[in-house]
Amino acid sequence: MTALLAAVGVCKSFDGFKVLDDVSFAVPERGLTGIVGTNGAGKSTLFAVVSGQLDADGGRVSFADADITGLRPMRRARLGLGRTFQVPREFAHLTVRENFLVAARREYGETLGSVFFGWGRVQREERTLRDRADGWIEFLNLKKVTDKPAGTLSGGQKKLLELGRMLMTEPKCILLDEPFAGVNPVLVEEISTRIRELNNSHGIAFVIIEHHLEALKALVQHLYVMDQGRVIADGEAAAVLAEPRVLEAYMGGVI
Ligand SMILES: Nc1ncnc2c1ncn2[C@@H]1O[C@H](COP(=O)(O)OP(=O)(O)OP(=O)(O)O)[C@@H](O)[C@H]1O
Ligand SMILES: [Mg+2]
Repeated sequence: MTALLAAVGVCKSFDGFKVLDDVSFAVPERGLTGIVGTNGAGKSTLFAVVSGQLDADGGRVSFADADITGLRPMRRARLGLGRTFQVPREFAHLTVRENFLVAARREYGETLGSVFFGWGRVQREERTLRDRADGWIEFLNLKKVTDKPAGTLSGGQKKLLELGRMLMTEPKCILLDEPFAGVNPVLVEEISTRIRELNNSHGIAFVIIEHHLEALKALVQHLYVMDQGRVIADGEAAAVLAEPRVLEAYMGGVI
């Protein structure tokens, strides 16, 4: 099976300290893949390299049959590779719907539509965008807070908003950095269900970094374990987590 997203031999150092040391991983089309590892293992840095926020010192990243190493984040997003952040980055003073609309406009860039096609067309495009936003808002169960400032949402709702902002860019693959962190158990279940639905009915692949192992195990088909900048194990989630070297890496660690 060809990979939708793959990293091969990725390295990254900060001030001479190797944070990513020859990391490789592959995500199949429509796959649900997890990444776990103790604090500081390099998981978020790996996402930053894969999504283009950071340049790697070595290695390659490919997506949808293209070598994307060196592409700017926006170019990667346009190819269908989206990323959410460990700490949600909503615009706190904008409403939930406005956050969705900004996400779509920012990824596609402001169009010159008004110059070339006139105001009518721009208005139609706005209407389409707004309908799309409202569709995802309903899907994510955020309808009751559509017109509320995003800063007033709960931790879990902010995670759903982050996911929704991603969906506005029509991704093929979404990298989720700790979608369950700071989220109450009921919403953890709800977010998991939404991810499964997006995977099943929209064919979106997910790569999910999580410390919440039970929820992650129930969700993913394949799991990578990182420790001190390296992938130390990968395979079916329950089997991988039972491997002695994985247990050893976690001993005394926060998980
Ligand atoms: N911009 C940076 N400059 C210098 N060091 C950094 C930078 N970003 C990350 N690091 C260091 O790289 C290491 C890996 O950090 P990273 O955020 O990737 O870990 P993580 O696996 O996501 O951890 P956590 O589970 O706590 O989120 C840490 O030692 C961190 O301090
Ligand atoms: Mg992290």
